[in-house]
Order: sequence, then structure tokens, then C-alpha cells
Amino acid sequence: MRDQDRQGLSAALGLGAALATALAAGALLAAEGTATLRKADILEQPAPPHMARVENKDLKRARNYPEQPPTIPHHIRDYQIDRNVNKCLTCHSRTAIEQSQAPMVSVTHFMDRDGQVRAAVSPRRYFCLQCHVPQTDARPLVGNTFKDVDAIIRGGKGD
Ligand code: HEC
Ligand code: HEC
Repeated sequence: MRDQDRQGLSAALGLGAALATALAAGALLAAEGTATLRKADILEQPAPPHMARVENKDLKRARNYPEQPPTIPHHIRDYQIDRNVNKCLTCHSRTAIEQSQAPMVSVTHFMDRDGQVRAAVSPRRYFCLQCHVPQTDARPLVGNTFKDVDAIIRGGKGD
């Protein structure tokens, strides 16, 4: 057998062994019940949860810290953002707000990386959904121990 072939063979054998181990581990997990957020065994197909409703309330949520981008209080379904069109700016740009009565993107959105305020929204702030997100009424899958800084200042450790 040529050297190369031998290498190939031993690699294949190695892969086989790894596969066998993985399969055995899978069987073991199935037997013990897998820890999963689906709340069903891995081989079961439970009824999918209802689609969550997107918040569309026109109400501001509190910000968790001063630099937090405000969450989007309205639905954004089918709002196109690409090289040619930015649907968000048709309401939130400086010149659009008189008509839309939406809050204007703040001045930070016009700053380049040197802090210089430009005439147009900076490319760094063009793709709004990098930072702003809509909310839904979905129940959280896991707990959250976030503490507001006000609570931390009041309570020493925030407890
Ligand atoms: C048709 C007009 C319109 C479009 C399009 C639109 N918005 Fe809005 N947006 C509003 C208005 C009006 C408000 C003020 C709250 C309200 O009335 O819903 C608002 C509120 C917001 C806020 C909350 C601001 C704050 O100070 O709390 C954010 C963030 C936001 N929009 C982001 C977006 C993003 C991102 C998009 C695109 C995906 C978008 N909006 C598209 C009209 C619009
Ligand atoms: C890199 C992250 C980032 C991107 C991208 C971004 N924003 Fe923001 N936005 C923020 C942050 C942080 C704030 C709050 C602090 C501030 O004003 O800079 C904010 C604030 C806002 C506000 C509230 C302004 C006010 O005075 O209350 C609106 C409205 C908004 N953004 C809309 C948009 C829209 C529309 C886009 C897309 C064109 C966008 N943002 C893109 C981070 C971002």
C-alpha cells in the first residue's frame, strides 16, 4: 500500500470511530432525556408554539442603560433596507419627520468615526436593525438576572 493510501485508510478508520462514539453518545442522551428548550425529547415533534405577536403600541419602553438603542415600538414587516432603499428613513430622516411625526434619528447617526457630524446618515448607522429591534409578546425561554443600574446604586449590590 502506498503511503498516501495508508493515511487515507487510517483517516477513514478514525472518522468511523468518531462516528460510532457520537452515535453511542446520542443513544445515551436520548435514554437520559435531553436538556432542551423545546421541552420535548429530541425524537419527538411537538406542536409548534403560536407565532408571537409583534409589539405595535406606539409606547416607549424604558431603556436599560443610557446607551441602549431604543427598541422599535411598531411592526417592521416588509420594510426594505438595502443599497437602494431604506424604508426606515422614509419616516425617521431629518426631512421626513414633519410629515411622519416619527422621532428623528439622533445626531449620533450623522457622525462619522471621527465624531464629525455629516449631512447624511452615516453608513455606520444605515442598517438600523443592527442595533434597533422590534419586540414580541413571546414568553422568555430562560430567566434573566439583569439589574438596572439604579437598583444597583440603591441597593449596594443590586439585590
Ligand atoms: C411609516 C413611518 C415609519 C416607518 C417606515 C418606520 N418608523 Fe419607526 N417610528 C415611527 C413613529 C411614528 C414612531 C413613534 C412611535 C409610534 O408612533 O409608533 C416610531 C418609533 C421608532 C423608534 C422608537 C424611538 C424612541 O425614541 O423610542 C425606533 C427605534 C424606530 N421607530 C425605528 C424604526 C426602524 C429601525 C424602522 C425601519 C425598520 C422604522 N422605525 C420604520 C414611524 C415609522
Ligand atoms: C450602530 C447602532 C445603531 C444603528 C445602526 C442605528 N441606530 Fe438608532 N440609535 C442607536 C443608539 C445607541 C441610540 C440612542 C442614543 C443615541 O441617540 O445615539 C439610537 C437612537 C435612535 C432613535 C431615537 C432618537 C431620539 O432622539 O430619541 C431613533 C428614532 C433611531 N435611533 C432610529 C434609527 C434608524 C431609523 C436607523 C437606521 C437608519 C438607526 N437608528 C440606526 C444606535 C443605532
